[in-house]
Amino acid sequence: MRKANIVVVGATGAVGQVFLSIMEERRFPVDRLRLCASPRSVGKRLKVNGMEVEVEATTPEIFEGADFAFISVSTNISRQLVPIAARAGALVIDDSSAFRLEPDVPLVVPEINPEDLEHHRGVTAIPNCSTTQMVMALYPLHKASPIKRIIVDTYQAVSGTGTLAMQELREQSRTLLDGGTAKPSVYPHQIAFNVLPHIEPFMEDGYTREEQKMLYETRKIMHAPNIAVSATCVRVPVYMCHSEAVHVEFEHPMSPEEARELLAAFPGVTVIDEPSANRYPLAWQAAGKDDVFVGRIRRDSSNPNGLAMWIVSDNLRKGAALNAIQIAEEVLKRDLLARRRV
Ligand SMILES: NC(=O)c1ccc[n+]([C@@H]2O[C@H](COP(=O)([O-])OP(=O)(O)OC[C@H]3O[C@@H](n4cnc5c(N)ncnc54)[C@H](OP(=O)(O)O)[C@@H]3O)[C@@H](O)[C@H]2O)c1
Repeated sequence: MRKANIVVVGATGAVGQVFLSIMEERRFPVDRLRLCASPRSVGKRLKVNGMEVEVEATTPEIFEGADFAFISVSTNISRQLVPIAARAGALVIDDSSAFRLEPDVPLVVPEINPEDLEHHRGVTAIPNCSTTQMVMALYPLHKASPIKRIIVDTYQAVSGTGTLAMQELREQSRTLLDGGTAKPSVYPHQIAFNVLPHIEPFMEDGYTREEQKMLYETRKIMHAPNIAVSATCVRVPVYMCHSEAVHVEFEHPMSPEEARELLAAFPGVTVIDEPSANRYPLAWQAAGKDDVFVGRIRRDSSNPNGLAMWIVSDNLRKGAALNAIQIAEEVLKRDLLARRRV
C-alpha cells in the first residue's frame, strides 16, 4: 500500500483522539501527517506513532498536497471546510452529517457498501454512530430476507456528543454526589442520573434530527429506499458505547438461530447471546473494541415475521474513527485516490 499524506482536522476532539490511536494500531501508511483543530489548540503537541506532532491552524493551505483530509468537527464547520479541502485536491472523509445525504457523496460502511466509493467525487462521509452499528447488525439479515420495517430505541453515550459532554457528565456526577445542584450546559437538562429522550433538534414531524438520520442514512447505505424506520434516540449517563433495542420485521420469517449464524459469519460483528449465563452485549465491555456486538436475539412476540435484538458498539471506534480509517484503507486498496480530482 502506498503511503499517504494526511491532514486530520479536529485532532484534539473525542473522535480525533481515537482516530490517531487507531491509525497507529492499524499501521495506516502515513507519509506526512498534519494535525489541526480550533485556534484554541494551535501549538499543542499530540503524540502519534511515538512522535510529538504540533497542532496547526486550520487554513486552506494546510490541505495542499494532502491525499486524505479526515474532518471531525461540528456540522457547521464541516460545511465550510470540506469544500476547501476537496478543492485543494484531498479526498475528504467527513465525520459530520453535513454532506451525508448528498447524492454524489458516498456514505459508506466498508463491510456493507464499499463499492459506493467507486463513484466518489472528492468527498465521502461516515454515517451517524447510531446508524452504523444498527446497519452492521441488520444488513447480513436483510440480504437473507429483506427487511420491511425497523423500530429502534437507542441508549446513547455522552461521548457521542464530544469531549465537552463527557466533562459535563463527570462534573455533574461529582456535584450531585456531593449534595450540590447540577447546572446543564451541553444538554438542555441534567444528564447525570437522568435519561433524556432528546438528541439533536426536534423536527416538524415530532422526530428529532438524530432519529431522522437513522431512517435516511439506513436507506442510503443499504440501498433499500423503502425500508421504514421509526427511532427514539435517548441520551443516557454512560461515557462510552451506544446500545440499541431493535425490533425488525422481515418479508419472510427468520428464526433466531438463523440470525445468529448470519451475524456470526459477518465481518465486524460478534454475537454474545447466552442469556441464561447472563451473557449479552454490555456498553462497559464493548468500550475500546472494534466489533459491533449483538445479543438477546429472539422472536418478536408481536409479529410472526419479526425478531428483537440488542446491539452495542463503541461509538468513537466503529461509530466514527474506525469506520473512517476503513474507508481510507478501502480507497487505497481500490486505488481510488486519483479520482479525487474528477
Ligand atoms: N462522538 C461520536 O461518537 C461521533 C460519531 C460519529 C460522528 N461524529 C461526528 O464527528 C464530529 C466530531 O465529533 P467529536 O465528538 O469528536 O466532537 P468534539 O469532541 O467536540 O471535537 C471537536 C473538534 O473540532 C475542533 N474544532 C472546533 N472548532 C474548530 C474550528 N473552527 N476549526 C477547526 N477545528 C475546530 C475541536 O478543536 P478544539 O479542541 O481546539 O476545540 C475538536 O478537535 C462531529 O461532526 C460529530 O457529529 C461523532
